[in-house]
Amino acid sequence: MCGIVGYVGGQSALDVVVAGLKRLEYRGYDSAGVAVLADGGLAAAKKAGKLVNLEKELVDRPLPGGSVGIGHTRWATHGGPTDANAHPHLDNAGRVAVVHNGIIENFAALREELAERGHTLLSETDTETVAHLLAEEFSSVGDLAEAMRLVCRRLDGAFTLVAVHADQPDVVVGARRNSPLVVGVGEGENFLASDVSAFIAHTRSAIELGQDQVVELTRDGVTVTDFDGAPADVRAYHVDWDASAAEKGGYASFMLKEIAEQPKAVADTLLGRIDGAGRLTLDEVRIPGAVLREADKVVIVACGTAFHAGLIAKYAIEHWTRIPCEVELASEFRYRDPILDQRTLVIAISQSGETMDTLMALRHAREQGAKVLAVCNTNGSTIPRESDAVLYTHAGPEVAVASTKAFLTQLVACYLLALYLGQVRGTQWGDEIHAVVRDLARIGDDVERVLETMEPVRALARSLADKDTVLFLGRHVGYPVALEGALKLKELAYMHAEGFAAGELKHGPIALVEEDLPVVVVVPSPRGRSVLHDKIVSNIQEIRARGARTIVIAEEGDDAVVPYADHLVRIPATPTLLQPLVATVPLQVFACELATARGNEVDQPRNLAKSVTVE
Ligand code: G6P
Repeated sequence: MCGIVGYVGGQSALDVVVAGLKRLEYRGYDSAGVAVLADGGLAAAKKAGKLVNLEKELVDRPLPGGSVGIGHTRWATHGGPTDANAHPHLDNAGRVAVVHNGIIENFAALREELAERGHTLLSETDTETVAHLLAEEFSSVGDLAEAMRLVCRRLDGAFTLVAVHADQPDVVVGARRNSPLVVGVGEGENFLASDVSAFIAHTRSAIELGQDQVVELTRDGVTVTDFDGAPADVRAYHVDWDASAAEKGGYASFMLKEIAEQPKAVADTLLGRIDGAGRLTLDEVRIPGAVLREADKVVIVACGTAFHAGLIAKYAIEHWTRIPCEVELASEFRYRDPILDQRTLVIAISQSGETMDTLMALRHAREQGAKVLAVCNTNGSTIPRESDAVLYTHAGPEVAVASTKAFLTQLVACYLLALYLGQVRGTQWGDEIHAVVRDLARIGDDVERVLETMEPVRALARSLADKDTVLFLGRHVGYPVALEGALKLKELAYMHAEGFAAGELKHGPIALVEEDLPVVVVVPSPRGRSVLHDKIVSNIQEIRARGARTIVIAEEGDDAVVPYADHLVRIPATPTLLQPLVATVPLQVFACELATARGNEVDQPRNLAKSVTVE
C-alpha cells in the first residue's frame, strides 16, 4: 500500500524515480508525486490519479534536473485522493520533502502541536506532520538522518518514510517501522524502495531493513542505525530474478502474463523438495521436528486470495496429518481472543509478506507462544522475517493486483507442508508422499492444457459482460475455489459475485436464482467421493429447474453433468485434493476476460492495492 522510491547517484533522479514508481503502481494508484534536489533547492510535482497524470504534468511543467530524488504512488488513507493530499509533503519553507507508507496514529496531536508553533499544514494527511517535524529537528541538529531518528521516536503507528533536505543535498534518508523498505546497492548510486522491482533494472544487490531502523544513503554509502543511532544489523541478499520478470513480455496485461506463467510457477515451487534418500525436505522450515510432532492444532491466517488457499490447505492438512486445522481471516484473528499455546502451529500465508492484518495476527500468535510458519512469495519481506520458519513459493514477482500464480503456488506449498507434517509425524508413508508429489509434478502440464482450451471460456465471459450477478457453487475443496472465482470477478469486473457451498443453496442462496442467472458450478471428481459428486449434480439440477444458466466445471470423462450444463468447461482429471490447482484457472480467465469486456483495467482494479500495509 503506497509505493516509495528514493535515489541518489549519477543518473537523472527524476527518470529513475518515475521508472521505479511505474513498477510500484500496483501498491496504489490514487495519486503520485516526486521531489528532486537541484540548484540548491527542492522542486516537487504531484498529481491526483494514476502515474500517467504526473508524467503529463512533468512534460507540461518540467522540474530541474538533479541526481537526488524521491517519489511516491499513493493508496489513500488520511485525506482523499487530491493533488494537495498527494505526496511528497513539504515543510513551510519548502526545504524538506517526505513520502510515507503507513498510518501515523498520533498525527492529530502532532498537527495541533505544530499549529500552535506557527506551522501551516496544507493537506489532510498524517504525513505532512513529518515534513514539519523533520524541518524543526534538522534546524537544531543539522543532519537529516539524526532528525529522522528524533522524529521517528515521536511517531506511533506504521510508517515507512523517505525524505530529502535541500540543505543536505547529497543524502536520502529512510525509516522503517512495519511497512516495507529495501535498499538497492549500486555502483556510485543507491536506491530505496518499497520493493526491489523499483530498482531491479539497475541492481540486483539488496539490503533488507529491519524494524525501527533508519538508513542514510549517499552515492557511495549506506548507513543503517536503530532509532537511537546505534549501528544496526542488516541482511544483504541477491535478487534471483531480473527486470524482464517484472515486464509484461508481450501480454496485454500483467494478469494475463501471470495466468500464463502458472505451469512454471507450480514447477518452480516443487523444485528441489525431495532429497537423495527420497524424503521430502523443506529446507526453509526451521521448526524442529519434535515441535512439529507435538503440535496439536494448526491455525492458518491469511487475507483475500491467500485466505482461500488456506481454506483449501485445511482439507489436505487434516486428511494427511489428522491434526485439527482452523482457518481464519487474519483481520479477525487477534480480536476474538483465539486459544493458542506452544503446541499450536500457525501458518501465515501471504504473497507479499507485508499484509498488515496477517502480520498483526502472527505477532499475536507468537506472543501467545505459538510457532509461526510463513508461506510467502517475497524474499526478505516482513512476515517471513518475523516468523519462526518460512516456506517460499517461487511464483516470481506478481504485479497484477488480483492474485493468480501466487495462489496456485500457495496451494502447492501448503500441500508440501501438509505432506511434510505427515512425514514428520508418521501419518503418511514414504510411498504415499511420493505418490502425491508425483501427482503434483504432473499438475503443471494439466494447467497448461487448461490454458490451451480457454477460448470458449473467454467467449462465454464476453457474452456475459452485461450481467449484474454471477454466483459460484462448490463442494469440499471446490467450495473455496468457488469463493476465489467470485472474488476474482468482484475485484476485476466490479460485479455482484458470490461463492457458496453448494449444500447451503437450499438454506437461502437459492432464493437468488432467477431466469438466466449465470451460476458457475465446480464439480468434484466422480472418482473421489462419489456421494459428493452425486449431490452436486442434484444441486445443478435444482438451480437449473429454477432458470439458472449453468456453467459447469467438471473433469474430463464426467458424463453425469452433461445433461444439466448449459456451458461445460472441461478440466483434466486430478486427485480430489489437488483439483483446485486446475479448477481455479478457468475462473481466473473468465474474470479477466469479463472485466476486459466491461472496459476495466485488469491490472489495477479500482479502490484496490496489492500490498495492503494498513489494518
Ligand atoms: C490484497 C490483494 C489480494 C491479496 C490480499 C492478501 O487484498 O488485493 O489480491 O490476496 O491482499 O495479500 P497477501 O500479499 O498477504 O497475499
